[in-house]
Amino acid sequence: MGRLNNKVAIITGGAGGIGLATAQLFLKEGAKVLIVDLDKELLENASEGRGAKNLSYCVADVSKSEDTKKYVDTALERYGKIDIFFANAGIEGTSRPISQYPEEIFDRVLAVNLKGVWLGCKHVLPKMKEGGSVMITSSVAGLKGFAGLGAYVASKHAVIGLMRVAALENAERGIRVNTIHPGPVNNDMMRRIEKDISPEKPEDVMKDCEQMVPLGRYAESDEIAHMALFLASEESRYITGCTHVVDGGMLGS
Ligand code: NAI
Repeated sequence: MGRLNNKVAIITGGAGGIGLATAQLFLKEGAKVLIVDLDKELLENASEGRGAKNLSYCVADVSKSEDTKKYVDTALERYGKIDIFFANAGIEGTSRPISQYPEEIFDRVLAVNLKGVWLGCKHVLPKMKEGGSVMITSSVAGLKGFAGLGAYVASKHAVIGLMRVAALENAERGIRVNTIHPGPVNNDMMRRIEKDISPEKPEDVMKDCEQMVPLGRYAESDEIAHMALFLASEESRYITGCTHVVDGGMLGS
């Protein structure tokens, strides 16, 4: 018996590092999964040869209302219900002090990382089955400031507020809502951040970041996926309205 047998999950940012690792783990545990992403090519590659019956994809921009309704409808048409929602899509923006931060990048980061989660809560939760579980990917940057990352840090703090409200508003229906806070993860997002900070020597940025982690390395995407699995499963049935850190000891040190 899988830990998610007969459950239906929507995962946004599902073609990226953490989203795809989570989709793979959920499939292994018996779930049916709809991965949602902006990037059609990544989605096509992600779903190739992975048991078409239980994995589907939907191209959508989570920051848009119409696209959000589209992925909800796709999940319901394809699988008939929604038990698990992983609001995971996110972008990093750029690294600059607030005084030099481009306004259009600030707007986009907030649109995807905050409004995208809000739209998900607005349109997915009313359609979810009683007893469902919602996970939102925040970051260590949702619990601590990082110079240069004003837009990202603000967006990742803000989703904690949304999570707390959604947890209260949905507790009566037995729907739980939690945030996950990864430290640096060894995937495309960190590669882009390293290059943005130091185009010449991105590997030096990686070394500096690793030094901030007591366990001495980045997480792998599947190490975050295991937290998502725990929160999606019955094992976490008494946990809601909480922040869950997966950071190799970074915030505790
Ligand atoms: P990633 O860049 O591999 O994946 C993000 C995915 O989101 C990509 O596939 C991208 O196409 C998709 N996406 C971006 N904008 C979108 C939009 N408007 N609509 C739909 N999809 C969109 O990076 P990763 O690590 O898998 O990111 C997942 C989440 O984890 C993000 O919310 C990120 O902020 C968070 N996170 C990542 C960390 C890291 O070090 N990689 C650390 C802490 C948090």
